[in-house]
Amino acid sequence: MSLSGRTRVAGVVGQPIAHSMSPVLHNAWIAQAGLDAVYVPFAIANGRFAAFVEGLRGGSVAGVNVTLPFKGEALAAADQASARATAAQAANVLVFRADGTLFADNTDGLGLLAAFAEQSPGFDPRAGAVTLLGAGGGARGAAAAFAQAGCPDIRIVNRTKAKAQAIADSLGGAISAYGLDEVSAAFRGIQALVNATSAGLADGAALDVPLEATPDACVVMDMVYKPLITPFLAQARALGRPTVDGLAMLIGQAVPSFEAFYGQPPPAQVDVRALAITTLGL
Ligand code: ATR
Repeated sequence: MSLSGRTRVAGVVGQPIAHSMSPVLHNAWIAQAGLDAVYVPFAIANGRFAAFVEGLRGGSVAGVNVTLPFKGEALAAADQASARATAAQAANVLVFRADGTLFADNTDGLGLLAAFAEQSPGFDPRAGAVTLLGAGGGARGAAAAFAQAGCPDIRIVNRTKAKAQAIADSLGGAISAYGLDEVSAAFRGIQALVNATSAGLADGAALDVPLEATPDACVVMDMVYKPLITPFLAQARALGRPTVDGLAMLIGQAVPSFEAFYGQPPPAQVDVRALAITTLGL
């Protein structure tokens, strides 16, 4: 990498941030494209996010990706937001414009749809019902993305049903809420099932849902990418269900982020998936 007085700086903001894959992906693309650019991690203490972004207004930094726990604050800090960021109530991209204004976007939904397009090419969101497990930020973003893509029937299942209902009420349209006790009904006739809960993460309790109640052709996706094949995906595979992994979504959100920061699509020649798998030890 060679840096100069014109180097375009972008990065990722979160807490913790040390294990973020984004610097690995973006810097590999920067190197391949030969850009005078760099992508760095910013570890910001809780309570300091708003001050951090205020200081970057005016274009000293081209933009930042935003990850947990700052996605809501990122949207709140912006002067303008895309419709998809507003619907998700979260931003994972902030662009610092030269005029001092701050634009918020959300590419997580694009990443989700890109993951399906790549790993389950026959999947069409318009063709039938999808079910989401969980009612946190990930599920809300996924519901907004599927709704935007024309999905006619989006079912959100959550342990705390009221949280699923709150998403359905605020996004409106074809979204309905289910409790865990209604999960079999929520699986009936669906073409895809997405795990957007934190269950199954290294320190979380395993998610216990009757995957065998999904139709044989139901595509099963997990937003968690470490491990690459989560216990949830392993169970789906054992039942013969086609699967989509969370790493494809991570890369899928990074592609439009790169375009937002560096003004061009990432070079296709870099195998960022293989790079991520090696870096993460997956
Ligand atoms: P996000 O990262 O998407 O913002 P979050 O806000 O931490 O995630 O939400 C985590 C989700 O995982 C919630 O929907 C939570 O259910 P509750 O709303 O009932 O708390 C869900 N979740 C976490 N552990 C779970 C478990 N063991 N079984 C079922 N759901 C679980």
